[in-house]
Amino acid sequence: MLCTQIHIGKKPYPLYMGKDLIVKLDSLLSSYIQNRFVFMLTDENVFNHYGKTIIDVLKNNGAKFDHFIIPSGEESKSIDNYRKIIDKLIDEKYNRNSVLIAVGGGVIGDLGGFVASTYMRGIDMIHIPTTLLAQVDSSIGGKTGINYERFKNLLGTFYHPKAVVVDTNTLNTLPNREFIAAFGEVIKYGMLGDYDLLVDLDKNYVKYLNRAIDLDKIILKCIKMKEQIVIKDEMDFGLRQTLNLGHTFAHGIESSTGFNKFFHGEAVALGLLLAANLSFFLRLITVDYYKFIKKIIYKYYSNLFEYKFNGEEILKSMAMDKKNKDNYITFVLPTDKEQVKVFNNIPTEIIRKTIVEVNYGFSCK
Ligand SMILES: NC(=O)c1ccc[n+]([C@@H]2O[C@H](COP(=O)([O-])OP(=O)(O)OC[C@H]3O[C@@H](n4cnc5c(N)ncnc54)[C@H](O)[C@@H]3O)[C@@H](O)[C@H]2O)c1
Repeated sequence: MLCTQIHIGKKPYPLYMGKDLIVKLDSLLSSYIQNRFVFMLTDENVFNHYGKTIIDVLKNNGAKFDHFIIPSGEESKSIDNYRKIIDKLIDEKYNRNSVLIAVGGGVIGDLGGFVASTYMRGIDMIHIPTTLLAQVDSSIGGKTGINYERFKNLLGTFYHPKAVVVDTNTLNTLPNREFIAAFGEVIKYGMLGDYDLLVDLDKNYVKYLNRAIDLDKIILKCIKMKEQIVIKDEMDFGLRQTLNLGHTFAHGIESSTGFNKFFHGEAVALGLLLAANLSFFLRLITVDYYKFIKKIIYKYYSNLFEYKFNGEEILKSMAMDKKNKDNYITFVLPTDKEQVKVFNNIPTEIIRKTIVEVNYGFSCK
């Protein structure tokens, strides 16, 4: 088992990574849960696979142990579920000294983090990410949130966990589409600052897609890259915004399709392609780099190319993005290998053209 400290927030917290850590949660987490009220939040799928094991391992460790299961999927990151969980915490008399353990993908992590950060002005939380996306990205960095109406992550906080436990064996039960979706975020990290990672993803895509390659290395790479960025700009005023590479388009795609057409990582992959196309259109990157990015995304996401975007709906959603400034949509765009920049001055017509071109490219594929 690997144990490393994540130096974000007021106090570093441990990240444990290894196989079968779920069955060792009692010893790993004993100092966080002993004599305390423990509340596990998870979703239906994750509960079916791991619920019983975790309950058996943890139920006798805290002073009290309850769990709450929500339906799986992005639509669950809602104010309705937020309210239900808060009601349950109140009904069961959870106090300020309680601990919330979020077991699941990014949806559970974001929602659980939002609950933990707001209930009684904040209770302790522990992340147990069970999707590849949550392991490479969302369980680190402290952003919590829920969607509101059609607005992605409109309500949220910055709130760090006390510990993160990455059990890579949980990925064995992750369905293929959910597994592959996470590579959208991994490709993002390659574009942000690790060209060798892109080369690796390109060269070994068959192995990655067939899970015939150890993932520990790329999980740790992405976590460490995110940590280094967030350390320098925890509250998202500058450098951290670069983590939104591909995400302006991705959030536009997700919200304009009702949060149920694509997994977040898939939307990010499509967003990266759109961002690279926009950069190429603006002559910020070379044709070779653009084609390289496009090739990788096609290799991992050929299943998505049948879909036709509604460009106007995406534009409408992006116009509401919370990061926009002065009536311009904010984009993070690649400007070279391992280089990106934030732009606030791109005319709508050019953005529209990019969406049309990528739509056309998809239909040709
Ligand atoms: N806070 C952040 O910094 C951050 C960063 C990136 C993404 N996110 C958020 O993360 C969310 C996406 O996360 P996600 O891709 O993990 O989606 P998810 O949480 O919806 O999980 C995807 C699916 O996998 C299932 N699942 C999870 N673990 C499983 C397992 N081990 N075995 C079988 N099934 C399993 C879930 O039930 C769900 O159906 C989005 O809401 C996105 O906005 C947050």
